[in-house]
Amino acid sequence: MKPAKVRANAAQILARLFKQQGSLASLLPRAADVADADQNQIALLRELCFGTCRWYHRLHRELGTLIDKPLKNKDIDIQCLLLIGMYQLEYMRLADHAAVNETVNATVLLKKGWAKSLVNGVLRQYQRRLAGTLTTAADKTVNDDAALAYPDWMVNDLRSDWPQHWSQILTAGNQHPPMTLRVNLSRISRADYLERLANAGIAAVAGELTGTAVYLEQGRAVTTLPGFSDGLISVQDEASQLIPGLLLAGEGHRILDACAAPGGKTCHILESLAQAGEQALSVLALDIEARRLGRIEDNLQRLALAGDHVKLQATDSSEPDNWWDGVPFDRILLDAPCSATGIIRRQPDVKVLRQSADVARLAELQQKLLTRLWSCLAPGGLMLYSTCSVLRAENDGQIRRFLSFTPDAEELPINTDWGVCIDVGRQLLPADQGPDGFYFAVLRKNAD
Ligand SMILES: C[S@@+](CC[C@H](N)C(=O)[O-])C[C@H]1O[C@@H](n2cnc3c(N)ncnc32)[C@H](O)[C@@H]1O
Repeated sequence: MKPAKVRANAAQILARLFKQQGSLASLLPRAADVADADQNQIALLRELCFGTCRWYHRLHRELGTLIDKPLKNKDIDIQCLLLIGMYQLEYMRLADHAAVNETVNATVLLKKGWAKSLVNGVLRQYQRRLAGTLTTAADKTVNDDAALAYPDWMVNDLRSDWPQHWSQILTAGNQHPPMTLRVNLSRISRADYLERLANAGIAAVAGELTGTAVYLEQGRAVTTLPGFSDGLISVQDEASQLIPGLLLAGEGHRILDACAAPGGKTCHILESLAQAGEQALSVLALDIEARRLGRIEDNLQRLALAGDHVKLQATDSSEPDNWWDGVPFDRILLDAPCSATGIIRRQPDVKVLRQSADVARLAELQQKLLTRLWSCLAPGGLMLYSTCSVLRAENDGQIRRFLSFTPDAEELPINTDWGVCIDVGRQLLPADQGPDGFYFAVLRKNAD
């Protein structure tokens, strides 16, 4: 793929994203599906799309001051190309002339040669503006304008939810996420795996919150890591790796993972049982998206965790009448669908796609899942509620509401030294080179 073609492809992908036709995860080609020869171009394509979304709100404001009138809807691809060009000039270490020329040439590939002089003029003007301010991209990730990279509603919600921490949350969300691995302790110790990485010349350090996490100094293709295909490791943020230590699943338990795809937490629960020499009676992993169940199956196979006691089912878990056999579960993990505001550094398109009204809609769905699944829990059993959100309406607000009308539910305090202690549950905030933003609450069902 020629450099201009990468820019044209990025503009087409972003144009589809802005038209709400998918997310970056669904619109970008997966590295695994692309020939080796194209891997560098795919890396550039991803960087252009991720980076432009990360800084979209800020770049869009700047663009408004560089053009006389907004572009027509049918030319949204040219608007995306302009943003991509501005992103390269400000945040990427590319030669300016190459960034401008290749972005201008992309107009022809989009069959919009008429936009050549527009794109050239805007980018040259932006280049001059940047040279005047001399602010580097590195400074921009930490200075006051971190908030300019977010939609106003999100900044307002975070400010009111986290008066002490909102600025730190916004800054962390503008950064590149670390690549974090989960070591399969049922197969290898973390110290031995760190040694294997060191022998392969891959710099890494152990995570501080868990006994399983390893942070790589630099991201790389997972298939190039020692032992990946043999199931020694998986890619998973450290916050998610706290789940087994809170769910406390054990020998003979019936376990439900109600929103399971792509199966990171299902697999980790099974790994930690295997490490303890225990086996669940049954593990049922549900997800509403049938096509994502295949990802769980792949992970179970790679990690050699599949077995007769592990079942997957595509269904709406808020409708137990459709899938439940009536025998109560000892443990339920409800890793609920949420705004993903705690993992914005990994999914920067959340800043573009998510609307304020989505939060209320998601909160209703979370409450429905909580109440419906509660009836499937055995007396004495535990439900772990988690989200990758930093919005309190989806987290402690949600659990407080649930507790107010569920007399047999008791919240068990999470006594640890990580995260922020709030009155119900525990909140991790996203940290530079540390875990994602995540919320956890442990609920026990008391006998009537
Ligand atoms: C946060 S993700 C789960 C991540 C997963 N637990 C893991 O660790 O890999 C939330 C999941 O909930 C699923 N989901 C959303 N609504 C659902 C519903 N009503 N019933 C079952 N799954 C649902 C989504 O398809 C998505 O896969």
